[in-house]
Amino acid sequence: MKNVLFIALALLIFSCGDKAEKKKFEYNTPKTTKPAKVVTKTEEVTSFETIVDLENKGIGPIKSIELDETLNMDMAKKGEAFFNTTCVACHKTDKKFIGPALGDITTKRSPEWIMNMIMNTAQMTKKDPLAIGIYEEYNKAPMVTAPVSEDNARAIVEYLRSLAQ
Ligand code: HEC
Repeated sequence: MKNVLFIALALLIFSCGDKAEKKKFEYNTPKTTKPAKVVTKTEEVTSFETIVDLENKGIGPIKSIELDETLNMDMAKKGEAFFNTTCVACHKTDKKFIGPALGDITTKRSPEWIMNMIMNTAQMTKKDPLAIGIYEEYNKAPMVTAPVSEDNARAIVEYLRSLAQ
């Protein structure tokens, strides 16, 4: 019986070409239990929003940002003003809205990631695993803004840092 199965499998692999790997995997799963469940990333974590990843710098123009330990309050004020005109349509600082709450975002993401998310949203939500996860969690609601300059994006980070203190 085993031999027959083996030959059948061999034929299957032979005839399926590219699909062979998948078939082999299914075949190898124990017959007595349900087929092994493929655990995807979304199932491993409760929410991408809660993930803390301060190493990931994201994808985009911002490669490296040095944060001063002390807040630059002038910059934070400028960031607040910009945030209140450009981001509040979709973001609140203390609770979910159209997009995630951003009051503690600087404790979860690197400044580079945040700035790349602001300045290079489309690519981030296509290529950065964390941004893709959040995008999918928000049912692919796209974050759309007019182009944001590096100075303004940096000022927003300073404002968001001031909220997380
Ligand atoms: C049109 C609505 C909209 C606007 C305007 C908008 N966002 Fe978003 N933002 C979203 C949505 C929806 C998400 C989550 C899904 C996604 O990425 O598309 C998001 C995600 C984010 C994230 C990732 C949050 C996380 O938990 O990792 C950051 C950071 C962010 N936005 C910052 C900003 C900033 C700063 C501005 C203003 C410059 C802004 N957004 C303007 C809708 C918006």
